[in-house]
Amino acid sequence: MASSDDNVLTEDLLHRPLPTAISTNDAQLHRSDWYAEMRKNHPVHYDDERERWDVFRYADVNEILRDHERFATMFGSDDEAKSMISQEPPEHGRLRNFASSWFTPRVLEGYRDRFAAIADDLIDDIEPGSVDIVPAFTHPYPVMVIAESLGLPVEDYEQFMEWSDASLRVPVRTEDEEEVTPEEQAEAKRAMAEYFSDLIEERAGDDGNDLITIAANNDDLTHGEKIAFCRGILIAGNVTTINLITNALWCFAEFDLFEPIRSGEIDRKRAIEEVLRYRSPAQSVRRVTTQPAEIGGQEIDEGEVVVAWNGSANYDPEVFEAPHEFRPERTPNRHIGFGTGIHVCLGAPLARIETDIALERLLDRFSVIEPDLSDLSAQPIPFGLKSLPCYLEA
Ligand code: HEM
Repeated sequence: MASSDDNVLTEDLLHRPLPTAISTNDAQLHRSDWYAEMRKNHPVHYDDERERWDVFRYADVNEILRDHERFATMFGSDDEAKSMISQEPPEHGRLRNFASSWFTPRVLEGYRDRFAAIADDLIDDIEPGSVDIVPAFTHPYPVMVIAESLGLPVEDYEQFMEWSDASLRVPVRTEDEEEVTPEEQAEAKRAMAEYFSDLIEERAGDDGNDLITIAANNDDLTHGEKIAFCRGILIAGNVTTINLITNALWCFAEFDLFEPIRSGEIDRKRAIEEVLRYRSPAQSVRRVTTQPAEIGGQEIDEGEVVVAWNGSANYDPEVFEAPHEFRPERTPNRHIGFGTGIHVCLGAPLARIETDIALERLLDRFSVIEPDLSDLSAQPIPFGLKSLPCYLEA
């Protein structure tokens, strides 16, 4: 149960292993069928194989995420590497709040032109015709955006991409799809820590407003916590957003929405919220009970691992009218694709704005975007697609 902070986003935000019921490609792609069955017949269910509880209804998932006293993310980490996602109050606030003023629409709007330029540069390199949009755009773009946000040289994005893919121990998106070995993973973490350690020392005393400088000048954090923050942001900032942009293209193709979104008939930002409900990259989050806890009428002992399926909660008919319909302008849309409670995604405003810019630039630069949905290959964690071949016309 205990895990170090090194695995913070792998284990907590992107928990594994996956339940057998959604271990095949087809079940991954159509996971809402399994969610419906579980919400109806086994809303709070113990999986003997994974030795953890799975919780599926909106009300229960919401309660778990909002009750950090009974359901904690604390997994016991060493003192030098604490990061916000593995801590509860008061430590959690110390590790999170210093950065929250950066993650606001006011600050992020100041980055709009730079993010758009990143998107345009990538699009400049795309030869119209048949293109896999994942390696050509949706994978590198968020890495470059997070590099810009951290104040890192954007042209080194391939290195950052390699480190964050390796940290997640998921196949790097290469042709051969080989697993990253534990040794390679440890090496990526060590290299990242060394890289950030040097930059944090260099930027102490600077007055820049990138995230590394903000962390470097925070007196309430230890050096190790500053490194953990930067590393966590680098990883969290791209693995999920890759899939939000890919999933948006997938949904817009499936429901024939490119033209109404391009013309403004359908609001792009609201359509992105519906993607976060319908196909959120983060389908579940993990907690541990700190005391015996009752949820959905089920008693759970202290020290049990509980997986709250926000992906299922987002399809709960108690909260969402016609949840199986993709309604791009759904109002209200109380999805919890970014989680909820004190650990609600810190980067949500960034993910929203960069996804909006990415879609805006793609629609502006290509008069035709036709994803081929005939042979989809699911990316299980975070949830998305490994590739998305598209026919593009300038
Ligand atoms: C579509 C993109 C994203 C999705 C779906 C997503 C989803 C989530 C979810 C569900 C959580 C809650 C985890 C939990 O309760 O255990 C979370 C937390 C977090 N996310 Fe994101 N995220 C995204 C993008 C980002 C970005 C761009 C950043 C940073 C630049 C980021 C940084 C974080 C951090 C630091 C936390 C931990 C917050 C805390 O513990 O207080 N995320 N994210």
